[in-house]
Amino acid sequence: MANIRIRNTNERLTKEQEVKSFLDKHDVLYEHWDMNKLPISLHNHFLLSNEEKEEILRIFDDEIRSLANRRSYKEWDVIALSDATPNLDELLKKFEKVHVHTEDEVRAITAGNGIFTIKGEAGYFDVELSPGDVISVPVNTPHFFTLVENRQVVAVRLFIDSSGWVAHPYEDPDFKR
Ligand SMILES: [Fe+2]
Repeated sequence: MANIRIRNTNERLTKEQEVKSFLDKHDVLYEHWDMNKLPISLHNHFLLSNEEKEEILRIFDDEIRSLANRRSYKEWDVIALSDATPNLDELLKKFEKVHVHTEDEVRAITAGNGIFTIKGEAGYFDVELSPGDVISVPVNTPHFFTLVENRQVVAVRLFIDSSGWVAHPYEDPDFKR
């Protein structure tokens, strides 16, 4: 389950209902997929073959199509990051810059963890994600993504148009790391 840290106050939200209503208020989609559907071999596995990525998409086909129908996504894939990823440090440096997109950014975590830091009305907040968490950062909302200490994640990504999914840098004088 996701939990939230509000950066200005260091307040943490860990109760499901509090997390859900905070994210609702910020127009952040937040849902769950049942990770019991995933075979044990894919629960803690981060160096995925193309066949294994296809398998994840097959297993969650109903969930993916439900989201796609509701929110107009047209394409989806699986991304896996870990210390085995070439240039992980370089990639993370790129991900950790505040940016916006011209479509929303959807991620369904199937293994590992990740943090989306998102700009809200009262400053930035961190959403720490675990397997089963599905989140969407709204269009044109400043944010960035990073990993936690274990530096590993597998996520399904959905796009309206992946060719248009570009990070536009957002210079924010209020943002402190
Ligand atoms: Fe992004």
